[in-house]
Amino acid sequence: MTERYDVVVIGAGPGGYVAAIRAAQLGLKAACVESRSSLGGTCLNIGCIPSKALLQSSERFAEARRGLDEHGIKLGEVSLDLAAMMARKNKVVDGLTKGVEYLFRKHKIDWLKGKGRITAPGRVVVSGEAARDVEAGAIVIATGSEAAPLPGIEIDEKRILSSTGALSLDRVPGRLVVIGGGYIGLELGSVWQRLGAKVTVVEALDHILPNMDQELGRTLQRLLARSRIEFKLGAKVAGARAEGEGVAVALDGGEELVADAVLLAIGRRPYTEGLGLDEVGIARDAQGRITVDRGFATTVAGIYAIGDAIAGPMLAHKAMEEGSALAERLARQQPSIDYDAIPAVVYTAPEVASVGTTEEELKAAGVEYRTGKFPFTATARARCNGDTEGFVKILADAASDRVLGIHIIGAEAGTMIAEAALAKEFGASAEDIARTCHAHPTLPEAMKEAALATLGRVIHM
Ligand code: NAI
Repeated sequence: MTERYDVVVIGAGPGGYVAAIRAAQLGLKAACVESRSSLGGTCLNIGCIPSKALLQSSERFAEARRGLDEHGIKLGEVSLDLAAMMARKNKVVDGLTKGVEYLFRKHKIDWLKGKGRITAPGRVVVSGEAARDVEAGAIVIATGSEAAPLPGIEIDEKRILSSTGALSLDRVPGRLVVIGGGYIGLELGSVWQRLGAKVTVVEALDHILPNMDQELGRTLQRLLARSRIEFKLGAKVAGARAEGEGVAVALDGGEELVADAVLLAIGRRPYTEGLGLDEVGIARDAQGRITVDRGFATTVAGIYAIGDAIAGPMLAHKAMEEGSALAERLARQQPSIDYDAIPAVVYTAPEVASVGTTEEELKAAGVEYRTGKFPFTATARARCNGDTEGFVKILADAASDRVLGIHIIGAEAGTMIAEAALAKEFGASAEDIARTCHAHPTLPEAMKEAALATLGRVIHM
């Protein structure tokens, strides 16, 4: 007998597992098809989580190596046990993926182990360990994305790496060339630079972090250059080939860089292979993203898509919001997502975080706005912490005072952006933030001061 579910989710990444859990919470019978041997998708297994574990470990190593003399702490010789660092990362990943398994059990969600293929609206064929045909009231495609390839470069995950290989190296490469100055290139480039590699980031554009407020990219580049990451901007990579023990990277224009390893991080593309999209007639755009309406409905009735497989920023938390909202829609609720209030964080040191409109976008749209900027060096807590680099920048509508964008670079930017996202979600004015009492001494006081600065009333500067 063919099993029947109200919702069958294909893919157990942040979008898919949240969709399944929310659906189950709302009383729907849910299953999730996942072929990987652990739940959590790219984010938990080979993305957000292992990279943050390594960023944390490598930052501690770098801090210990730089010395804590300033704090009056004397250390002996500091050395690296890379195998132990990797083992810790694997343990963190293992714990969290098991955590999702526990949540599935708690919510009585069936994990159908295998690859899902849609054969018709309402029908999914699972091949693999849990091979079977299932019927679904609704099918949710949450299959995520994969690293975009670059013609002329073949990933071998030993010397020519994608983010997956760069998270599991067994020794520190002497020289690492990173292709792409975006999220992955800067985060993983930072990890290996801190562990001792000589890192060069090659970026096709004339600035790093292409989609963020450019003042953030410029500042981050300056600070990373100080920690000895080298940048080649306006340099497009044409190809790379393994040569002897290393790799030769060819740039447009003839220049060649030689390295021990190369990381290719030029963006990601939707992963929809083998899903049967063409057979059932699900439309995609020119970039291969599944076309959906505001309710995540594809062009075929009863089939929905969320996360990296559709348009929008390829961020785990964006996918989670969509998974939750879609499940609620399937349960006849009417949720909505404010896409202008989705934060983005780059976990370098310092961190970079952003929500809302950038200054470049406001200029291009001809919007009248006020800018308020406050440097962390002028806050007491940043001085106590010894993390004085960076600033908070608030852009507010000149007429209504509504906050349009908040852009932060600084030690705890990724944590501080939560307040900014809340302000955006509530449609706050700069005055609202300025009138909110912020605890002293804390880094978020810079947020209040930046809001005051948009109003010409900054106190501590
Ligand atoms: P990205 O889109 O952030 O950056 C790719 C960079 O590569 C761009 O700056 C682009 O101009 C450059 N590029 C493209 N072709 C090139 C060439 N031939 N030569 C030199 N440079 C070239 O993509 P990335 O870093 O691969 O990350 C993929 C996605 O994964 C991101 O869009 C992000 O959504 C997600 N991600 C998010 C993280 C976070 O939230 N902290 C961390 C890691 C990834």
